[in-house]
Amino acid sequence: MSDATSIKRVAFSEKQLLLLKLMADGHWHSGESLGALLGVSRAAVWKVLEGICDHGVQITRVRGKGYCIEGGLSLLDEHSIRAQLPSGVSDRVSQIHVLSEVTSTNDFLLAQVNQSPERDGNMICLAEMQTKGRGRRGRAWQSPYARSLIFSVSQAFDAGVAAMEGLSLAVGLALAEGLSALGCPHVCLKWPNDILIGQAKLGGVLIEIAGDAAGRCHAVVGVGINISIPQEAMTSVEQPWCNLASVVENVATRSEIAAMLTGNVLRILQSFESVGFKHYKEVWESYSAHIGQNVRLTTPAGVIDGCMQGVSEKGALRLEVDGDMQEFIGGEISLRLHSSEERAPGISRPFKKGVGDASSS
Ligand code: BTN
Repeated sequence: MSDATSIKRVAFSEKQLLLLKLMADGHWHSGESLGALLGVSRAAVWKVLEGICDHGVQITRVRGKGYCIEGGLSLLDEHSIRAQLPSGVSDRVSQIHVLSEVTSTNDFLLAQVNQSPERDGNMICLAEMQTKGRGRRGRAWQSPYARSLIFSVSQAFDAGVAAMEGLSLAVGLALAEGLSALGCPHVCLKWPNDILIGQAKLGGVLIEIAGDAAGRCHAVVGVGINISIPQEAMTSVEQPWCNLASVVENVATRSEIAAMLTGNVLRILQSFESVGFKHYKEVWESYSAHIGQNVRLTTPAGVIDGCMQGVSEKGALRLEVDGDMQEFIGGEISLRLHSSEERAPGISRPFKKGVGDASSS
């Protein structure tokens, strides 16, 4: 298991970070002015900028004008995120880490909670980019520098993973409500916890567990929201996806979005063990993209077609299959809208419910 120090890998040099902060304004900067700032020659400036480009940041160079990050970058500002967190939830936040680069914000917090399992308060880790971001079902999660919102929040649970049933759905709901409040139209949820605009994925949630699954443990809730990711960075992504900046007219800064979404996630996390998913079931269903629609589930036991009827009080998917109501739960299941007009025949084999969706969602 990796420790916290090996996870926090600041691969940007101080000089690179200084130039990134300055050039985030989207203006042109001459080689001379950048050189004067760093105390180096113009040739050395180019070397520093090349190193930044190696991290996937696009810098335009025009003779006579200098260098520019076109469109600028909205960088995370720790001070402003802290200041905007709602006071009711921020009192229980013990640490906020804002990193320029990390393997995965989930890895970072998992290492922290493994080092001090006795801690109670929430920790938050946000990063400008991840080098090994993970999605559900073993997929990679793309997060190029300052183009998405990626964060993780930890929460201690006393009653083990059983107390986390439906947690990943409740977190999806917290995000959907936060995004709606930020002016995002038509946000909906795909079971268990994808955030969609129409049929295109805007974001997702990955919950991982540290500690005793039957007793005291920590959930590390990881969230990724696409904000302004260039098409070229997503060539390996097979499903339809979208950016927040493409659907919201004056999109908020990444720090404002971070404060809104971490605040909403904290609110859910801090009360979830006492209220459970049943408290959120109805509102979750009001955001569901697929209620009343024919869907296809791909499960480890096979493919099942049915009509989605909603979710149970534990967050299980309720599917009508050939007149029978069946419930499905577990992180290895994927759902998509049934492609054909005619319903394909359902498989009425009962599917065993898992212990909880939180450990593998
Ligand atoms: C999904 O597949 O829909 C879940 C995506 C979750 C991605 C986030 S980004 C922050 C956190 N760190 C990770 O490595 N993954 C999660």
